[in-house]
Amino acid sequence: MQTRNLIAGRWTNIGSGGAIEVADPASGEVIARVPMCGASEALSALNCAFEFQPEWEATPITQRADVLRATAAMVVARKDSLARIITQECGKPLAEAASEVQYSADYFSSAAQEIQSLNEMDVALERPGVRGVVRHRAVGVCAAITPWNFPLAMLARKVAPALAAGCAQLAKPAEETPLSAFALAEILLECGLPPKCLHVLSGDAKVIATTWLMDGRVRKLSFTGSTETGRLLLRQCAQEIVRCSMELGGHAAFIVLQDADIELAVKGALQSKFRNAGQTCICPNRFLVHESIASEFAARVAIAAAQLKIAPGMESGCQIGPLIHDEAVEKVRAHVADALKRGGQLVCGGRTKIIPNRPDRFFEPTVIANCDPSMLCFTQETFGPVIPIMSVTSAKEAIEVANSSPFGLAGYVFGGSDAVTRSVAQQLQCGVIGVNEAAPSNARAPFGGVKFSGYGREGGAWGLMEYVTTQYLALRSLEK
Ligand code: SIN
Repeated sequence: MQTRNLIAGRWTNIGSGGAIEVADPASGEVIARVPMCGASEALSALNCAFEFQPEWEATPITQRADVLRATAAMVVARKDSLARIITQECGKPLAEAASEVQYSADYFSSAAQEIQSLNEMDVALERPGVRGVVRHRAVGVCAAITPWNFPLAMLARKVAPALAAGCAQLAKPAEETPLSAFALAEILLECGLPPKCLHVLSGDAKVIATTWLMDGRVRKLSFTGSTETGRLLLRQCAQEIVRCSMELGGHAAFIVLQDADIELAVKGALQSKFRNAGQTCICPNRFLVHESIASEFAARVAIAAAQLKIAPGMESGCQIGPLIHDEAVEKVRAHVADALKRGGQLVCGGRTKIIPNRPDRFFEPTVIANCDPSMLCFTQETFGPVIPIMSVTSAKEAIEVANSSPFGLAGYVFGGSDAVTRSVAQQLQCGVIGVNEAAPSNARAPFGGVKFSGYGREGGAWGLMEYVTTQYLALRSLEK
């Protein structure tokens, strides 16, 4: 397992701030020590990336695409070992980690395909003798700051289009989960990426981000994380007019209309809510269910939830792993306690499951009925396996409650009529919506939010466009 940083073309152990201990959330055991980098390492990475940028940008597109395609294939070939690294450092069940590996590979194949279809375009200028041409150029050196909940896929989703577009890439994975990032960097180098093109640094997020963003040579930041941190980064980016993609907090509504197929909605609720034990940005956080079926929905979700296997992610058949750390558990506990204090009815769960010799981080799938928008779980992202259900009297009320949140990343609508569900979905103020579909994410589709959930899109052609600038040429030819 690679535990060193990739800086200026070399794997290195040097961390001016000492070391970071990476712990397995399911056992609390330290599984690796990685460098705690600071400003000096961040600056060497930036110097090298900036120097190398023109060379990578000038590398033919087919050559760049070949590296990405080879990377996609090697990521898939190493699915088992990568999945184990993900589970060890972030806790999710091994089967989910394996899906994350495939998801990551898809970002590389998609970026390889998209860059090869990005063509020059003519503009009809209606000016005799002048031809208008629009082309795309790499935006320049890019920085990626990624979260712990998808340690491989969130990096892949940023690095793949950046490299495809011809950008040198600086990356700072989350302190909790740097190992997947190092493993991905190893694969990229094995697949022919010039080492100076990618720099992966574990360390002090604030110092590294400040060094990169206030320097003037980083031209683009892609960040996935909290809205609070996103705001701080945006302030720094304002100084040097750094272009940004911000995938910030989510607080998805899951709407179940009166005529919904309840079985499908129950399955969808479990699938979308309990992925990574509720620790994804697109997990539904507010369940808005028509009053005529709310009790049945709650009861059926609870029966299904009670059958899920809660265990360390490495254990065979595990469906719900540990939460990432003790603070995460405290937040979920606080949300549950608040909901119950304000009149919510506990249908199942509500506490952690004690597993001998394991940290107290395994939160039971929890269903709370009779919820309302005054509760913490309706105003903040819980990031845990809690399903708070509010009864609504109509689709109109569901849309109003859903849109009353300042967040707008994902949403879900379950209902029997295609026309109605689609109309409800289109009225939701969010960027990604599943209609009778619990897993809308796809590497070929745009992913991103509105309002406090950020802006910019990742995935497919939309993701690639974030890494290019549009250049317009008005060409008057003097040749006969
Ligand atoms: C996230 O939680 O930010 C990513 C979820 C996804 O891509 O499906």
